[in-house]
Amino acid sequence: MAKEKTIYTCTECGGISPKWLGKCPSCSAWNTLIESVAESAALGKNRYTSQFQSLAKTAEVAVLADIDATDVQRTPTGQEELDRVLGGGIVEGAVVLIGGDPGIGKSTLLLQALDSLQRSGQSTLYVTGEESGAQVALRSRRLGLVASQVRVLAEIQLDKILATIAALQPDVAVIDSIQTVYSDQLTSAPGSVAQVRECAAHLTRCAKSSGTAIVLVGHVTKEGALAGPRVLEHMVDTVLYFEGETHSSFRLVRAIKNRFGAVNEIGVFAMTEKGLKGVSNPSAIFLSQHAEPVPGSCVMVTLEGTRPLLVEIQALVDSGGPSPRRLSVGLDRDRLAMLLAVLHRHAGVACMDQDVFVNAVGGVRISEPAADLAVLLAITSSLRGKPLPKGFFAFGEVGLAGEVRPAPRGQERLKEAAKLGFTVAVVPKSNVPKKSHSKEFEGLTIHAVERVEDAMQIVRTF
Ligand code: TYD
Ligand code: MG
Repeated sequence: MAKEKTIYTCTECGGISPKWLGKCPSCSAWNTLIESVAESAALGKNRYTSQFQSLAKTAEVAVLADIDATDVQRTPTGQEELDRVLGGGIVEGAVVLIGGDPGIGKSTLLLQALDSLQRSGQSTLYVTGEESGAQVALRSRRLGLVASQVRVLAEIQLDKILATIAALQPDVAVIDSIQTVYSDQLTSAPGSVAQVRECAAHLTRCAKSSGTAIVLVGHVTKEGALAGPRVLEHMVDTVLYFEGETHSSFRLVRAIKNRFGAVNEIGVFAMTEKGLKGVSNPSAIFLSQHAEPVPGSCVMVTLEGTRPLLVEIQALVDSGGPSPRRLSVGLDRDRLAMLLAVLHRHAGVACMDQDVFVNAVGGVRISEPAADLAVLLAITSSLRGKPLPKGFFAFGEVGLAGEVRPAPRGQERLKEAAKLGFTVAVVPKSNVPKKSHSKEFEGLTIHAVERVEDAMQIVRTF
């Protein structure tokens, strides 16, 4: 086959150059030229010819109200926690991108999912570019997937993968990983921005035209973002991130984008010697098990997606050097600096000469501001060396004026904590349920606060 011509396109201005240059000849930006396949010249010419007009006539235009809004058909993957983040199951013709650190369990999870899909009567294909067929087989034995009927293709050439998908017409295909696939129309190496973009575009087109759902495994960069062009995330229907610390056995799958469901849902898994197992009631796993309450620890209820989770926030305040450090794990560091300022100005608690460390237990990452109050209480508890009482928890957003703002769906958070035997709560005033004496909140003493000072006052009385 004759090689198609490639050109270099500037990602900033769209200018083109026949060969690679460090500086874009059109806009003078540095390092922005990326290889791409030249569109055949015929397409560019005579755009508005009669042929074009006849095409427009045949194109179907319909009024929105007349289009049937059929709900998409979902096939459960058999992994309940994975289905939760996908919005109920995998959708025909959908493209899912799943990213995560090496060794976190992407290949394991997808192999398990493919096997249960295959068992439920779907036809599946696992394309591996990183491991040999034997390695995949070894893993499947380890996972206890005996007599698995999942079809495996060890291939990295895009055209062969596309041809195989066209020939086998599987319901679901996994490409592990998109960074290993290459198209021989480009001269760049596999994994380069140009290759990833080109291959993902072809695979997406293939999914849409054939109805095969395609799952792309993506690498992440050192900073934790999906490697490759940002445009990859726009191209696909669903973006999932696999996170968790490799030394803890818990793994979270988080939906960042989902055209077929809610985002910010999380699925919780535990890595066992038999692969990943869904954790259907994850509330208790992000609490460390202290026999007696310790200073610097405060439990909060976070709502990631639809499910409340209890997470322990730990803080350590220690006398620091001339330039004290503020470090956070699992929480936003800028937000920590802001909270310390609020604590000083509105509650008169100064940590100016102290190192402050905060941590969300269990490797969970909390992005919602409802963690603010728990962070502040953990810090003051550590500063005073006094633990918060047993069975205590708090949540609420803290504003710059020192006000404590309500957290969304506060009642659900309170109910979950009450269910797990927590007894004392400090929460924003508007989150206090009207019927706080009802059975669901039994045994729970709720303290309502409107300002940071109020919260400090209440915990001082414990
Ligand atoms: P893997 O799925 O290969 O990760 P990725 O594809 O994201 O790079 O995960 C491999 C890790 O999981 C490896 O460190 C060993 C561990 N593991 C288990 O603990 N139990 C198992 O049953 C399997 C298959 C892997
Ligand atoms: Mg892998």
